[in-house]
Amino acid sequence: MRRAGLHRQHGRNVGGSGFKGMVAKLSIAAAVLLICTLSLFFSASRTSNVQSNFRREIRLEELWTNADSDGWRPSSTPRSHWHPPPSKSNGYLRVRCNGGLNQQRTAISNAVLAARIMNATLVLPELDANSFWHDESGFHGIYDVEHFIQTLRFDVKIVESIPENEKNGKKKKIKAFQLRPPRDAPISWYTTDALKKMKEHGAIYLTPFSHRLAEEIDDPEYQRLRCRVNYHALRFKPNIMKLSESIVDKLRAQGPFMSIHLRFEMDMLSFAGCFDIFTPEEQKILKKYREENFAPKKLVYNERRAIGKCPLTPEEVGLILRALGFDNSTRIYLAAGELFGGDRFMNPFRSLFPRLENHSSVDHSEELVENTRGLAGSAVDYMVCLLSDIFMPTYDGPSNFANNLLGHRLYYGFRTTIRPDRKALAPIFIDRENGRMTGFNEAVRKVMLKTNFGEPHKRVSPESFYTNSWPECFCQTAPKNPADKCPPNYVLSVMHNELNKQATDTNSTKA
Ligand SMILES: *[C@@H]1O[C@H](CO)[C@@H](O)[C@H](O)[C@H]1NC(C)=O
Ligand SMILES: *[C@@H]1O[C@H](CO)[C@@H](O)[C@H](O)[C@H]1NC(C)=O
Ligand SMILES: *[C@@H]1O[C@H](CO)[C@@H](O)[C@H](O)[C@H]1NC(C)=O
Ligand SMILES: *[C@@H]1O[C@H](CO)[C@@H](O)[C@H](O)[C@H]1NC(C)=O
Repeated sequence: MRRAGLHRQHGRNVGGSGFKGMVAKLSIAAAVLLICTLSLFFSASRTSNVQSNFRREIRLEELWTNADSDGWRPSSTPRSHWHPPPSKSNGYLRVRCNGGLNQQRTAISNAVLAARIMNATLVLPELDANSFWHDESGFHGIYDVEHFIQTLRFDVKIVESIPENEKNGKKKKIKAFQLRPPRDAPISWYTTDALKKMKEHGAIYLTPFSHRLAEEIDDPEYQRLRCRVNYHALRFKPNIMKLSESIVDKLRAQGPFMSIHLRFEMDMLSFAGCFDIFTPEEQKILKKYREENFAPKKLVYNERRAIGKCPLTPEEVGLILRALGFDNSTRIYLAAGELFGGDRFMNPFRSLFPRLENHSSVDHSEELVENTRGLAGSAVDYMVCLLSDIFMPTYDGPSNFANNLLGHRLYYGFRTTIRPDRKALAPIFIDRENGRMTGFNEAVRKVMLKTNFGEPHKRVSPESFYTNSWPECFCQTAPKNPADKCPPNYVLSVMHNELNKQATDTNSTKA
């Protein structure tokens, strides 16, 4: 059974404004409340099986509601003994996260896990002033710092900066030793090389810090910690949450809506190297950007496209949706940066789907303009895409905006996603361009039937843990496998007591 009509209420919880006024002391109660609300929400929908790749038809009214949960609900609470962060830390861990909003979220989650593994104190992660967005707002400008530290208090100690050390009456700042972790470094690198330097110097600084910890880790408790960071601790600041909710409220006042991340931007297009559809002037711009930012590579448009390496054009996105049965009354929120090529590419899409919105068309206020520059703009788009009824990314390459959202929507209740299989669709589009129009819609539908629409599904490499955290971060009340059993609610109070006990012990040894 699919459920409709609960989006709003559910959205309130993730938005956090339902908890407005609750002070930090009550955050455990809040966490429990959230978990209870989620279990309430999910207990009613359990049917069908996990591998629903055997779908025979695509029904629009089903796409407008959440996917089948098959009795699974999100849960990232520990399921085995989880010791509080040690009272004596091995040193300070500083990281600098580069990339856009989503790459940073992933990096922050990795940093927390790295600190946990090393029994280190984490210094609030530094966010790179993004070269593309020219943004310098940092962690404080985007995320709710107090909520972050509080939510993770059972996991790691977090400080805002490395404190000054007082030795023989002299104040001295610990200088963090700079290290460059290998890409996707295994846990053992952190417990050997990195830990050694940390103990030697008191602090280490890992930079750049993106994809510096292996994603597949054979320890579900570690993976659940990543989910606690990504889906619970990393909450945007109240102004961003408020603005996103007001946009969603305005959109939903007229009924359900779809969000699309139209990745048809200059950086993506030049990375993909799909130039031939552009004018000579446009090609010059893309090629220049490519030379300046990416390693040289021989890129032949027809070859790239045939294997699904080119981002879908807005028109192709429109045609896929039409083939699935969405008509011109469908309301679509477009999350995107600057679309490359302008109206020439947007007009065909607009004629298929005239009811298009973006954050500035929904809300014209000063406040919006103030709050949607740089990373904060990405954050608003992130929230609207998270809360929308359907989400469709058009290019889910590595470390893209879409990847984290796919994972977050899965965690947030198996919310429908439409993930076009570009490689399988490419020959159908090529046929259409060559005049073979008949059977186009059926062919598209046949490809789409084999894709996942946001149900629980097995992660198959190269799918990222951040795109699909099933099954580690999900549980069942009546599981076939005992490891999937939902933890009892008292786990949080056990952890709370242990943390308190440790604090008391530390106080008494001090005394
Ligand atoms: C971290 O602390 C735990 C609990 O005290 C201990 O079992 C583990 O070996 C420590 N790990 C490191 C790398 O210090
Ligand atoms: C939607 O399509 C119908 C025909 O299928 C047409 O009559 C109508 O004007 C279109 N609506 C808009 C807003 O373009
Ligand atoms: C948002 O939509 C409006 C109206 O359709 C358009 O003029 C504007 O360029 C769009 N803004 C962005 C950032 O895409
Ligand atoms: C331990 O001492 C600190 C101050 O030194 C105090 O803030 C904290 O509440 C004490 N913790 C407990 C559990 O008594």
